Amino acid sequence: MLTIAISKGRIYDDTVPLLRAAGIEPTLDPDKSRKLILPTQREDVRLLVIRATDVPTYVEYGAADLGIAGKDVLVEYGAEGLYEPLDLGIARCRMMTAARVGYHPQGKRLRVATKYVHTTQRYFAKRGEQVEIIKLYGSMELAPLVGLADLIVDLVDTGNTLKANGLEPRDLIMDISSRLVVNKAAMKTKHRHVRGLVEELTRIVSNQRSVAA
Ligand code: ATP
Ligand code: PRP
Repeated sequence: MLTIAISKGRIYDDTVPLLRAAGIEPTLDPDKSRKLILPTQREDVRLLVIRATDVPTYVEYGAADLGIAGKDVLVEYGAEGLYEPLDLGIARCRMMTAARVGYHPQGKRLRVATKYVHTTQRYFAKRGEQVEIIKLYGSMELAPLVGLADLIVDLVDTGNTLKANGLEPRDLIMDISSRLVVNKAAMKTKHRHVRGLVEELTRIVSNQRSVAA
């Protein structure tokens, strides 16, 4: 049995066509079912539907053999304990700093609101800037509007969320896309099975890229 951890929403929606091309079709819709383990048409493959931020944990501890997670989540988690063999090229966006339009605070220690506390800490430390980080769990765009923070670190795709809240993107921290991750032990103990799926998905993703090019 191969167990693949995945989050509902945009990653699931973008992954299903890739899995389908590899002959893996879930037999239940996670939006209609309350089940957290989704069987697939292949008896040897099942999906775990979990929170995006929990994917690296399930894979690192071997509760799932493989997982699909955003680079943002992997960097924040510190996924050295996982193999990351494939960039799936889905759920693309950028991790950026942002602030109120035209806002340029000077001579003060900045307050930065984010759910990416470790990544933000490392980013500002590398620049030699001392900042105060405020951990939030969502809706970061609100923080500068109500005086909770000077800056936010969040994901930006179209920029519409920033714009709708009178914010502007400032510095790019990193480009983000979703990655296939693999448990290190499973790569050895289920080598043929895991390797087969990784190679199949690699082929599908690179075919899609050449069609798009
Ligand atoms: P949770 O619901 O568990 O808090 P989440 O809200 O971060 O997690 P999603 O919004 O589905 O879950 O995001 C999952 C992943 O998709 C993120 O980790 C990121 O890699 C990517 N992502 C997030 N926002 C965007 C976006 N606007 N455009 C493209 N990709 C995005
Ligand atoms: C993400 C992210 C931003 C928004 C950026 O939120 O946290 O708020 O997308 O996308 P945009 O630049 O295209 O507007 P999401 O839609 O996932 O909502 P959530 O924070 O509630 O998960």
